[in-house]
Amino acid sequence: MTTTVVTNIGRLVTNDPALGDGSPLGIVEDAALVLDGERVVWAGSAAGAPDADVRVDAGGRAVIPGFVDSHSHLVFAGDRTAEFNARMSGQAYAAGGIRTTVAATRAASDADLERNLTRYLDEALRQGTTTFETKSGYGLTTHDEARALRIAAAHTDEVTYLGAHIVSPDFADDPAGYVALVTGEMLDACAPHARWVDVFCEKGAFDGDQARAILTAGMAKGLHPRVHANQLSYGPGVQLAVELDAASADHCTHLTDADVDALANGNTVATLLPGAEFSTRAEWPDARRLLDAGVTVALSTDCNPGSSFTSSVPFCIALAVRDMRMTPDEALWSATAGGAAALRRTDIGRLAPGAYADFALLDAPSHVHLAYRPGVPLVTEVWKRGSRMV
Ligand code: NIG
Ligand code: FE
Repeated sequence: MTTTVVTNIGRLVTNDPALGDGSPLGIVEDAALVLDGERVVWAGSAAGAPDADVRVDAGGRAVIPGFVDSHSHLVFAGDRTAEFNARMSGQAYAAGGIRTTVAATRAASDADLERNLTRYLDEALRQGTTTFETKSGYGLTTHDEARALRIAAAHTDEVTYLGAHIVSPDFADDPAGYVALVTGEMLDACAPHARWVDVFCEKGAFDGDQARAILTAGMAKGLHPRVHANQLSYGPGVQLAVELDAASADHCTHLTDADVDALANGNTVATLLPGAEFSTRAEWPDARRLLDAGVTVALSTDCNPGSSFTSSVPFCIALAVRDMRMTPDEALWSATAGGAAALRRTDIGRLAPGAYADFALLDAPSHVHLAYRPGVPLVTEVWKRGSRMV
């Protein structure tokens, strides 16, 4: 296997406290990174770097782990510009807008869905995302949910069955019938293509009892749970997620003290999605309250055509720092190691021996510039599994 040394790194974030300055980011100044095939085999001070077959000069740029975007909805067709326009003129966001995308997605061909997905994946990769999770949820029939997952699974291992996004319009008068479908025939067709099961536990979508039934049915088929919880209002989602040992409770915008305690004492990551609050003009999740309570926080885009149409993790980092009062260090950790934790992965989100060589070079002296220079395309080079992709 070919070994590569990336040298002349101005500042390297390893996310391994033992490798660097002792901080959670494990920062090494004047660093080098050595790869063997797809993996990192060495990280540390450039002066001590072992030789390798190939030498790459980072030109003093900062190197960070590739972003782990642990929450997106990228298998869809159509557009919700009109809804966004109305919202920016004062209309409130509601879960019902999902129906617009469901109609467009059902009408789209496999090739259209695939083209749309790869377009957003390329966009995300160019902005430093090297791992992404994505969900079904805009099909809501057995056929359309299974095909969404099949299309997604060709591009990522992190595929989530979200048949329970909203009650299908075909079951408007029979929500119990829809839950029976989602936990029965649709689950049977979808489980082979997915790793995760998710539910939008929210007023206007699924209540606590329905969510429990959906998640436990998925778990019985070998899927692992994650939950859209407490986005638009207070509710049972977060505590249900912790109780079922879900990898992540996503959104966490409306939390009681008991919700925060449950997260702090459980194994469930709180995934914050500031693109959604930005695009729906909603109040920000209280990241400081979660971090100060000791909760593991991830930061992701929630990229979808309705509530957060951004594929940019750097943009979400800037929002998290400016508006959610996370420090630049916390925001970067949450968008890399935090995302990995939300996917229960230890082979990504860090640049230490054994991890996949997934990283981004920034045209900046440090990762702090991601928030300090919002909107500027600082990601200039992206490597995934030891190969340069951008
Ligand atoms: O995460 N919360 C539910 N699902 C998406 C919104 C999807 C949509 O509006 O199309 C979200 O925000
Ligand atoms: Fe979402």
